[in-house]
Amino acid sequence: MKSTNLTWHKTTISKLERRNQNGHGSCVLWFTGLSGSGKSTIANAISSELFRHGINEYVLDGDNIRHGLNKDLGFSEKDRTENIRRIGEVAKLFVDSGKIVTTAFISPFQSDRDHVRALFEDDEFFEIYIDCPIEECEKRDPKQLYAKARRGEIKDFTGIHSPYEAPLHPDLVIHTNELTIQESVEKIVSFLQKKNLL
Ligand code: ADX
Repeated sequence: MKSTNLTWHKTTISKLERRNQNGHGSCVLWFTGLSGSGKSTIANAISSELFRHGINEYVLDGDNIRHGLNKDLGFSEKDRTENIRRIGEVAKLFVDSGKIVTTAFISPFQSDRDHVRALFEDDEFFEIYIDCPIEECEKRDPKQLYAKARRGEIKDFTGIHSPYEAPLHPDLVIHTNELTIQESVEKIVSFLQKKNLL
């Protein structure tokens, strides 16, 4: 910590009070997976489903956050680690505010994801592996980034020149090449129900 002479100011309204007022729990659904695996698509589908049912929710998405808060960061290992650290802290604020927040970041390193998990209490952080074979992600290539990476126009591209560490102990796995978007959403909703968060 660089700053000194700081005192934590306890907020008047607690996380528990916000949850009680909302009538549901708050947590982070931490999506991890390759580019093109479907993280943003499923995150937005779950967001629509929860919103429709009056649930307080929000999506934090890699490409969007890199337009603002994290626009000073690139794709070196060090920058990806800092990207995930900041998002972890932001997600924690959202959980404190009483929301169900879904994060859609490649978050390729297990240690970075573990550090984020450590910020949360039990049953507040769920690591959800959006699993899709790289061949399929490359076939989908919605942003034509795999093609660019193959042509050498992007360096450090995840899955090609930069590693992706699949989760060792994910709380949930969504196989996006086997399930429809609706089936994926249903799987996540029933997971939230089982955890008594809805
Ligand atoms: S992470 O590795 O730090 O978690 P993040 O999810 O924020 O990555 O950003 C990934 C998004 O940035 C991809 O969906 C893609 O659109 C874009 N991108 C641009 N360059 C790269 C790269 N070298 N590797 C991966 N994604 C990249």
